[in-house]
Amino acid sequence: MRLFPPPRAALPILLACSLSCCLSCSGGGTAAPDRTGPAASSAGTGGTDVGAPGVGDRLFPGAGNGGYDVTHYGLDLAYDPGSGKLRGTAVVTVTATQPLARFNLDLSGFTVTRVTVDGRTAAVDRDGTEMRVRPVTPLRDGARFETTVTYEGVPPTLTDPDGSHEGWFRTDDGALALGEPVGAMAWFPSNNHPSDKAAYDITVTVPHGLTAVSNGELVDSESASGRTAFHWRSKEPMATYLATVAIGHFDITRSRTGGGVPVYVAVDPRSDDPTTAAALRRIPEIVDWESGLFGPYPFSSVGAIVDHLPSGRVGYALEAQTKPVFPGDGEPGDPAVPLDTLVHELSHQWFGDSVTPAAWQDMWLNEGFATYTEWLWQEHEGGRTVEQSAAAALADPANSAFPPAAPPGPDRISDAPVYGGGALVLYQLRETLGPTVFATLLRTWPAARRHGNATTADFTAFCQHLTPHNLTPLFTAWLHTTHHPSVP
Ligand code: TRP
Ligand code: ZN
Repeated sequence: MRLFPPPRAALPILLACSLSCCLSCSGGGTAAPDRTGPAASSAGTGGTDVGAPGVGDRLFPGAGNGGYDVTHYGLDLAYDPGSGKLRGTAVVTVTATQPLARFNLDLSGFTVTRVTVDGRTAAVDRDGTEMRVRPVTPLRDGARFETTVTYEGVPPTLTDPDGSHEGWFRTDDGALALGEPVGAMAWFPSNNHPSDKAAYDITVTVPHGLTAVSNGELVDSESASGRTAFHWRSKEPMATYLATVAIGHFDITRSRTGGGVPVYVAVDPRSDDPTTAAALRRIPEIVDWESGLFGPYPFSSVGAIVDHLPSGRVGYALEAQTKPVFPGDGEPGDPAVPLDTLVHELSHQWFGDSVTPAAWQDMWLNEGFATYTEWLWQEHEGGRTVEQSAAAALADPANSAFPPAAPPGPDRISDAPVYGGGALVLYQLRETLGPTVFATLLRTWPAARRHGNATTADFTAFCQHLTPHNLTPLFTAWLHTTHHPSVP
């Protein structure tokens, strides 16, 4: 698991429980937000032509918005490391999923200087992280439209319910953006929920001599009047929480996997320790090994970003799409990229990035698979067997503090039950399905949901179709309640 010590400390938080939240709770805790449901069309506003301020996520009620679906983000960002100021233009291409006299985008901080909808200036007001946009003419259901937001300011670092930090970090030579779970709103306006994935073009303009790295492939870089613009494209759909940008001095290494996937690795030289260098050299091998287990690598490039931040600022790696991000502090004995962490983050490209949770409570679908992949890797490398890892996970009471598919609050989504507890669900499945059917599951699940979303219920139904065994007792015991050692 990727939470380098110290663990993310819990902070008290008060959350308003919306109608949709209570409805999904009573449904057994695995219901996905339903953007066509009653909460999405009219929550709290009384009008059916008003987009809801959230998608109804049980754990993050304010995340995302109702009434539309984003297909593309075109972000044009200019960053000045001296002042820390970002000037942005975000062109958001959207399809309305209901009539919209008004809709929301999520944005934290900044001065919004202008918003247009299809070229016409729209009325805007802000309420916390909700930006309400009222186009001159209401949009009809199914309409495709373009919203352009012009904004500027010093992007904020956000503090999560569990006390950890995300959003925008200033570094001594630039900046780093990390978005899990809601940090995307610290650098661009969006429908900030994993259920709405979109393609991206991200152009970042920085002073000459600095490099800006983002998801996907570098389309071009152009220098003019002392500045360089780096244009990155993610053509496969991406959740907002997986978008990243890193600005600074980086050593760039390009290569290819055995399967032909282009590899782009950016390393801040101050975080380049021997362990990190040795791990990064194995990216092609790891991606090929994971492709053998999980099916074809789901994106058109892969890589990594290793940045340099003082210890304690970030404290975790993140599976940013195509380029997982690793913060290094440059301190001896604290490698920026431990090999098992790299294996973990790369497995997220299948589990999390390509197959994305429909709601935050489904996050065990990310972390359970990524942790299980670490177990597989250790066995593959001649270390602990999967059985031994499972036995160790079972013996650790932290893994059974709550059911993997039911984190009790937003401050608990990166706790042990989501990681080790989630991996134990997969281990139990292997025991019940047998190694052959389980191997099929590992390949066919990412294929079935490739570039999409999935709920816990989608996963359990998918598993059930692979076997005549009734899997309900297994899922009840290991996924929906806290596992009990007497259950086989
Ligand atoms: N997803 C990261 C990993 O395990 C860990 C992480 C980073 C995280 N930020 C988070 C988990 C925010 C939950 C919430 O690879
Ligand atoms: Zn993870």
